[in-house]
Formats: sequence, C-alpha cells, structure tokens
Amino acid sequence: MSDARPLRVVVLVSGEGTNLQALIDAAAQPDAPYEIVAVASDKRDARGLERARTAGIAALHVDPRSHADRSAFDRSLADEISSFSPDLIVLAGFMRILGAEFVARFEGRMLNIHPSLLPKFKGLDTHRRVIEAGEREHGATVHFVTAELDGGPPVIQYRIAIDDSDSEESLSARVHAGEYIILPHTVELIATGRLQWDNGTVIIDDEMLSKPLRIDEQRA
Ligand code: GRF
Repeated sequence: MSDARPLRVVVLVSGEGTNLQALIDAAAQPDAPYEIVAVASDKRDARGLERARTAGIAALHVDPRSHADRSAFDRSLADEISSFSPDLIVLAGFMRILGAEFVARFEGRMLNIHPSLLPKFKGLDTHRRVIEAGEREHGATVHFVTAELDGGPPVIQYRIAIDDSDSEESLSARVHAGEYIILPHTVELIATGRLQWDNGTVIIDDEMLSKPLRIDEQRA
C-alpha cells in the first residue's frame, strides 16, 4: 500500500450504474488510489444504489418529491454529499440538472460522463441523434462540470468509427464499453495528482490541457 490517503469519491447515479460498477471494480484493485465512499441517487429504485449496497458502500436516496423546489433538493443533496468529505464527485448517469449554486459549491471537484464527442450532441438521446445526423464518428467524453449543461472543459474522449450496420443499441454498447475505460482512468489521474483543475483550466502533468486526451476503440 502506498502511504498517500486514497481520494474520497462520491458517485451520483439515476439508473443502471454500470459506470459506477466500473469505478467500484477499479477501486477494489490492490493499491487503488481512490475509494468510493458513498453513492447517491434521486431515484429510490436505481440499480446503482443496489450495486453500492452489494459492494458495502453507503447508498443514499435523496427524493426530489420531498423537497419544495429544485434548490432545496440541491441543498439537501449537497449536504448529504458533504457529510462524506469527498475530494471528488462523479456524475455517472445522474439525470437531474444541478443548479449553479450546487456546481459552485463543488467547483473543480466534479466530473460528468456524457455519451457523445462533446461539444457535439449535448443532452439526451445521443445515439439516435448521431445516427440521424449521419455522423461517421461517435464516442464518450469525461468533463469537469460547470454551470453550463454538458459544457465544462473536457478531459478525455473515447472515439469509435460508426459502421453502416450500427444501430442505437450497438452504438450504446460500444460507447458504454469505452466509458468503462475513460471514467476510471480519469479518476485515477486525479487521484494520483496528475490531473488538476486550476481556476477553470485543466492541468495534466503540469501542462495546460488544450484538447482532450483521446482513446480510440480497438477492434479485433
Ligand atoms: C452513460 O451512457 C453515461 O454516459 C450517461 O448515462 C449513461 C449511464 O449509464 N451520462 P450507466 O447507468 O452507467 O449504465
């Protein structure tokens, strides 16, 4: 074991949580530089909460319906998260938009994974929209979260070439496979001190990151 304290990570999910599972598996490796200290969801029945419980990780449900408005929900969620003293918050399929106050509270300490090559295809239904637009390339992006939806500085992208035979389902499967690589990798870069946020600028290995790191799909 290294002497450094592992980075404390809280993950937010709304659904399946397969990206969460990739993080849980990576954090379970010997000498992993980070630990998942809690998982929170806006959905009581999110499969991701179950994955957390199975792994012995604190699983919290914060119910939007029991809060007066969006900012009250955001504040409760932020307070719950803060009680775990996180170094990093990862949005991994968290389907609610978090307000500017929430984002400011965790500025530079929040990542999101989005299933497109940002800045293209922000928002929902990316695989369908990519096919409809006749794109030849697609992928996923991990980026720091800012108040602009899917708009914060990108850190790394996973790219795939689109085949004529691709469907929404095949794109979803191929993009997900890449997400399981780039998300744990990004958390590891932060946990090992190689990647930092400095006042809106992303620093990697002491240099300013001018364009996202890139991993291409390897096909047999
Ligand atoms: C992923 O495609 C991620 O990019 C997006 O939501 C999806 C979550 O999938 N933000 P899962 O819940 O991790 O399986």
